[in-house]
Amino acid sequence: MSPDDLKKLAAARALELVRPGMRLGLGTGSTAKHFVDLLGARVAEGLEVLCVATSEATQAQAESLNIPMSTLDATPELDLTVDGADEVDPVLRLIKGGGAALLREKIVAAASKRMVVIADDSKLVAELGRFPLPIEVVPFGIEATRRAVAAAITACGAAGELSLRKRPDGSTLLTDGGHYILDARLGCIAKPELLAKALNAVPGVVEHGLFLGLASCAILASGDGLKVLGTIE
Ligand code: 5RP
Repeated sequence: MSPDDLKKLAAARALELVRPGMRLGLGTGSTAKHFVDLLGARVAEGLEVLCVATSEATQAQAESLNIPMSTLDATPELDLTVDGADEVDPVLRLIKGGGAALLREKIVAAASKRMVVIADDSKLVAELGRFPLPIEVVPFGIEATRRAVAAAITACGAAGELSLRKRPDGSTLLTDGGHYILDARLGCIAKPELLAKALNAVPGVVEHGLFLGLASCAILASGDGLKVLGTIE
């Protein structure tokens, strides 16, 4: 099976968790895109759900499939969010934000009773940090914020290069919220909770891609089938 087939397999298993009338959070990225496609097909068959998107890209995809959409203002409590991840560790701590949607993804996940992660099993890691940690920052004072972020990382006993995320054309990437992203290449994050707290305390940091205590389940697809971490129902 190709990596894309594996993503679709995980998405299809997550779709089985959806019940009529549910309020759903829709994730961002190539795996979440499969889930939205599959959900759209069920909606076309008559399934009634109400959804909130975690990015403009997912919003556009869902609207194109005629999935009923809402906002967190109108629908502030969700039953289930299904989203991808860049890394998942054995106790369901995540790195997210490879697709630059971490801020809305975290707000939506936190507003949901349950967050289920879907991924191919290459995302499962013993320790977080090989994937660069995305840190969303306001453009104002970026150099001062970058230095403060670097100091916070050092104070947590970690180290690594920080780079401002660019678009393929070389311009600085702007998130849906109009912010920049600093990617921290740390190699390993020995103390994710400590680092999360330190980053949250830096003025100018809007959010970071450490998702701790948010996911209740991860559905990981491999050539051997599905592996479930946590509680699926
Ligand atoms: C977007 C994300 C994505 O969920 C993450 O990057 C995984 O993406 P993919 O399913 O394409 O591997 O966090 O901000």
